[in-house]
Amino acid sequence: MEELSKKELVLKQAKLAINFGVGVIAFASIWVFQFTIFPDFFKPEPTIVEFIPDSTEPESVSYFELDSADIENGIHVPTGLIVDDGCQDVMVTCGACHSLDLVTQNRATRDGWKEIIVWMQETQKLWDLGEKEVVILDYLAKNYAPENTGRRKNIENIEWYNL
Ligand code: HEC
Repeated sequence: MEELSKKELVLKQAKLAINFGVGVIAFASIWVFQFTIFPDFFKPEPTIVEFIPDSTEPESVSYFELDSADIENGIHVPTGLIVDDGCQDVMVTCGACHSLDLVTQNRATRDGWKEIIVWMQETQKLWDLGEKEVVILDYLAKNYAPENTGRRKNIENIEWYNL
């Protein structure tokens, strides 16, 4: 076997080193590049956590604070609710799913309000109101009773046109 001269040996090693370097760079580039195409390549498959409402009061129901700065003429301006005992509970509980306009624009007797609550519990996943139910019903029955203000009187003695 022919002896390699020192020069040739160095050259050969240099070539090997360059090949190796190019290989590493190429590999690294592909490696980096694939993350730009598949950023989630090594991330585990997301586990789909199904949200099963269990009809218990969510912990995070506190979107509304009864702040005295928001009260004008006995009305909590942001929600339109009449400020009275139980107002905060109604605000927090009944405002959790829908606008409180649904409360302020309705009038019902205590039984009527109870029916609305039961209806929401049976069909709309409203949770068991527990001790708050009495407080809420008291508030609604008192402030949003059928004969209360906020609703025009029935029209009487109208003279209808003959068409
Ligand atoms: C878990 C969610 C949820 C909560 C909490 C909730 N409701 Fe409802 N409520 C609904 C849904 C859903 C509807 C139907 C909305 C619609 O028709 O757009 C509804 C409708 C209503 C209506 C209209 C009923 C009708 O006949 O159209 C009233 C009044 C009402 N809610 C009052 C309340 C009161 C009072 C509370 C607090 C005790 C409350 N809601 C809390 C879900 C809820």
